[in-house]
Amino acid sequence: MIPKHLFSTRTISKDFVEQIFSLASKIEANPDQFADKCKGKILASLFFEPSTRTRLSFESAMLRLGGQILGFTDAKVSSTVKGESIADTLRMINHYSDIAVIRHYIEGVGEIAKKFASIPVISGGTGSQEHPTQALLDLYSIKKEFKGIDNLSIGVMGDLLYGRTIPSLLFALAKYDNIDLHLIAPPALKLRKNVALRLKENGFKFNTEENLKDIIPDLDVLYMTRIQKERFPDPVDYERLKGVYQISTEDIKNVKDRFIILHPLPRVDEIDYAIDKTKHSRYFEQAHNGVWIRMALILKYLGLD
Ligand code: NCD
Repeated sequence: MIPKHLFSTRTISKDFVEQIFSLASKIEANPDQFADKCKGKILASLFFEPSTRTRLSFESAMLRLGGQILGFTDAKVSSTVKGESIADTLRMINHYSDIAVIRHYIEGVGEIAKKFASIPVISGGTGSQEHPTQALLDLYSIKKEFKGIDNLSIGVMGDLLYGRTIPSLLFALAKYDNIDLHLIAPPALKLRKNVALRLKENGFKFNTEENLKDIIPDLDVLYMTRIQKERFPDPVDYERLKGVYQISTEDIKNVKDRFIILHPLPRVDEIDYAIDKTKHSRYFEQAHNGVWIRMALILKYLGLD
């Protein structure tokens, strides 16, 4: 069963996640075979917040499937500035396109989509709440690297409070077995209580730490995130916390041979550029995987897989 819209990785089954991975890897192996699959279909790309990778990879995905796109990249050029509600925008989109991706700052936009959208709507990131398609490409990247997701030791470091990729990543990881999970953040940027609670309810255990140094030799994956400057209610707090975690080649001297670093990007200063050239960096490959995952999602949600 797939939910009509995709706003959370909590409400999708492991079976659905695996179906997306298997379709994405078929597409990746042979993209030309899928070049006409979405002929005559339109993706509405509604970005009320800035985006580089998510928007471009969704649009690239639709174009590579032979479909077309319409939309906007900035709320300022939409009727939002005239006072239109998101509910009305979604009502309109039903008639203009076959599927939509929406990035919105309102947490709970998924609930509005449920009420007003008759076409499938996929979140391209919702406030600080979730970013489900990012989590799918994150896990796909892990799976490609390690041939599976079970039994890995994974560190997630940075802004666990405001980063929306984090809840989605953790809800998705919770579907797998024997993950040795370490959440590394300063106390002020700890995982939200409701997210921690939901994970615990599902029996998903994790360790919380403040320092990477002691655990990095045990990790298979380090998932870094940026401190989300734009989400801080008080800029003084951001100034206090910015740059709190930065890694350089010095920090990865004692890592496992197979250790990799992921990051949803954009990075600010948390990963030194010198790490890009090491065998441990995978964030650019990870971003590339977004195209295959989003092609698979579009096909699945349009029933064309
Ligand atoms: C992330 C986002 O927008 O949530 N980027 C992305 O979509 N790849 C991460 C971020 O902005 O830090």
